Amino acid sequence: MSGSQLWDDVDFYFSSHLSPDDEVLQAALRDSEAAQLPHVNVTANQGKLLQLLAEIHNARTILEIGTLGGYSTIWLGRALPADGRLISLEYSAKHAEVAVRNIARAGLDKIVEVRVGPALESLPKLADENPAPFDLVFIDADKANNAHYIEWALRLTRAGSLIIVDNVVRGGRVVDAESIEPDVRGTRAAIELIAAHPRLSGTAVQTVGSKGYDGFAVARVLA
Ligand code: SAH
Ligand code: DHB
Ligand code: MG
Repeated sequence: MSGSQLWDDVDFYFSSHLSPDDEVLQAALRDSEAAQLPHVNVTANQGKLLQLLAEIHNARTILEIGTLGGYSTIWLGRALPADGRLISLEYSAKHAEVAVRNIARAGLDKIVEVRVGPALESLPKLADENPAPFDLVFIDADKANNAHYIEWALRLTRAGSLIIVDNVVRGGRVVDAESIEPDVRGTRAAIELIAAHPRLSGTAVQTVGSKGYDGFAVARVLA
């Protein structure tokens, strides 16, 4: 996953000025590491972008798919007002346990709820509760299901909602139309769904940085 030293240096230059890790974010990463969670959380600069997008959008309700240790959850949660709501779906009970502690330390436990289980089981349960439409959905779990997650996001959002999909480039593997990798196939299906869907307008951007060469897609839900 790692890229060049220069990509690391530039990421560090930007993050040290623009998205410095405070004690709470540092502790979240430290505890994630101690619990041996995989190092696949968003970078600080990406986390700050998520926070800014949620703030610019005046998001009051956020759905996250893929919590890990709650690092991205904390950035997103910080964009919400005190009466906001963030639901984060996580397959692994162990990851969720670490995340819940990190989220509580961030003072976000009143707003954030972590639900454990495969997201494709949690999503229909969530839909059955008829929740208020989510203003923003951040998709960052098993990439094989990315298109399914977008379909669910469409059911759980409103006109104007924002859908963000992480890791749509994966070192460029996304362009391999013949790939049998489930992650690549799932992400290509997601991109092609965004392109073809009458209720979505989107784009995707390539990124480099301390997590290597990857990128994200952003889509707006239309009427
Ligand atoms: N958003 C996090 C990173 C998430 S990593 C951050 O940036 O800090 C991807 C997470 O998705 C992992 O914790 C993994 O356990 C979870 N995951 C994998 N398959 C899943 C599934 N089917 N349903 C829900 N979560 C899943
Ligand atoms: C992986 C998952 C992520 O969400 C990410 O940002 C990077 C890598 C992974 O599973 O390899
Ligand atoms: Mg990711």
